[in-house]
Amino acid sequence: MTDSKRPEPKKQEANLADEILPPIKEHLEQAHAFLELLMQYKCALMEVETKLNVLNAEFALKHSRNPFESIKSRIKTPASILEKLERRGYEFTVESIEENLFDIAGIRVICSFPDDIYTTAALLAKQDDVRVLTEKDYIKNPKPNGYRSLHLIVEVPIFLSEEKKYMKVEVQFRTIAMDFWASLEHKLKYKKDLDDQAAILAELKACADGIAMLDLRMQSIRDRIGESKE
Ligand code: GTP
Ligand code: MG
Repeated sequence: MTDSKRPEPKKQEANLADEILPPIKEHLEQAHAFLELLMQYKCALMEVETKLNVLNAEFALKHSRNPFESIKSRIKTPASILEKLERRGYEFTVESIEENLFDIAGIRVICSFPDDIYTTAALLAKQDDVRVLTEKDYIKNPKPNGYRSLHLIVEVPIFLSEEKKYMKVEVQFRTIAMDFWASLEHKLKYKKDLDDQAAILAELKACADGIAMLDLRMQSIRDRIGESKE
């Protein structure tokens, strides 16, 4: 090998250092920041879940029944985060996720009766470290398809080693019956070309209205049973 051929490997090394490594490094940094953000949302979920469990425990002791049946929580999957960013035309960055998506951390509180929804939501909202950003009351104002739930976007602080950071959490409150309805209705999203789509939509709407009425009747029976005991 002659000396004149030697610079070539050095050029490849230079390419690796100058052109290939920086974008890889940047991607790794973004990936790390993304994982860190998901961890922070997970912590915020735990905070809100604990708040709700505390309220449940206290209410159960005072009134001998639980205001909610169950809590389901989830962190949005990376695929679903990317899909939503793309659908809404937002930038694919960690900052943009934090700024634009409010449902990365989501909690669903399933209550037995409609009035428990409002009681629990109000008790959560009035806590002095909870900031309510938005409230959508689809129970008082149901969606045209019949969907009913109370949605809050709240911010709660998480205490990290070097900072206190407010994180957004979406909290959905529904009755057991509303949840049952929403699960079935959700299946329609993935079945767009059904022959009897219109009839199914109408039937679902009728069921949603029926459910709302039944929820109130059940609540009124609960009150009558409660009154007759005393
Ligand atoms: P998303 O982009 O879907 O999060 O909706 P949004 O930002 O317009 O907020 P909205 O409060 O209306 O809905 C938030 C969430 O509530 C949805 O992601 C669903 O989980 C639930 N939801 C809202 N509308 C419906 C509905 O018509 N049917 C069902 N099954 N769920 C719904
Ligand atoms: Mg959502």
